[in-house]
Amino acid sequence: MDNLMKKMQEAAMYITSRIGQIPVDIGMVLGSGLGDLADNLANSITISYKDIPHFPVSTVFGHKGRLVAGDLEGKRVLCMQGRFHYYEGYGMDQVVFPIQVMQALGIKHLLVTNAAGGVNTSFSVGDLMLITDHIKLIADSPLRGPNPDQLGERFFDMTETYDKGLIDMAKAQARELGIAVRQGVYMFFSGPAYETPAEIRAARVLGADAVGMSTVPEALVASHMSMRTLGISCITNMAAGVLNQRLSHQEVMETGERVKEDFTRLVHAIVRHWPL
Ligand code: HPA
Repeated sequence: MDNLMKKMQEAAMYITSRIGQIPVDIGMVLGSGLGDLADNLANSITISYKDIPHFPVSTVFGHKGRLVAGDLEGKRVLCMQGRFHYYEGYGMDQVVFPIQVMQALGIKHLLVTNAAGGVNTSFSVGDLMLITDHIKLIADSPLRGPNPDQLGERFFDMTETYDKGLIDMAKAQARELGIAVRQGVYMFFSGPAYETPAEIRAARVLGADAVGMSTVPEALVASHMSMRTLGISCITNMAAGVLNQRLSHQEVMETGERVKEDFTRLVHAIVRHWPL
């Protein structure tokens, strides 16, 4: 694990050499559709993942693969424009490495967004959902192996992985803007296949409101490092078997595009009101 700490520090040192010493308030992981938000930061500095020591490189179409630091609504933010997914073939440890690097940069607050399939039948395509909790039945964990004690405890609490105060603040901001938001449990599937209808029925019985292929590894290590995390899903499609139709990546991208404006407005308000 000394190796992990060393890698984190080398990556963090490189990032600091590029963005300067101004402390970053909030780390942000922007999922499909929201990546553009990072293009509109003031005083921004962009770093390609490929230039950062030990960073994996993003392979998904539509994901840009770079870090953007800048000012947003009075806060200094560091955005991941494009994230690493387990289904791309990265190890869980690689998927979460950027979050650990954020910690090495002194970042204590994290906003994670994603596209997700709606499992709760009262949801509609285009809904935004504040993540209240998650379910991960995939055995692999980013923290399997020796524990990096400097980051957090071996056996750590996940009772409030998604910060209740941040959820309440986000709800209040959504209300203020007239944007309807749902709340619910996000269940992690490893992909890249979408789930089967039977898997979605099982997920519903287990208490899932939405399913997706990201966010949970990142939120898990953020919890390990006691970062305060807010997660938001965009319900880009109803999950398999909910509607009498097949799932398509195109629908996911199109809904993301359609909802982008409201999602972006909400994220701006959330960042403005984020308590540090
Ligand atoms: N399942 C898993 N991941 C997803 C989905 C889905 O239905 N939609 C967007 N990401």
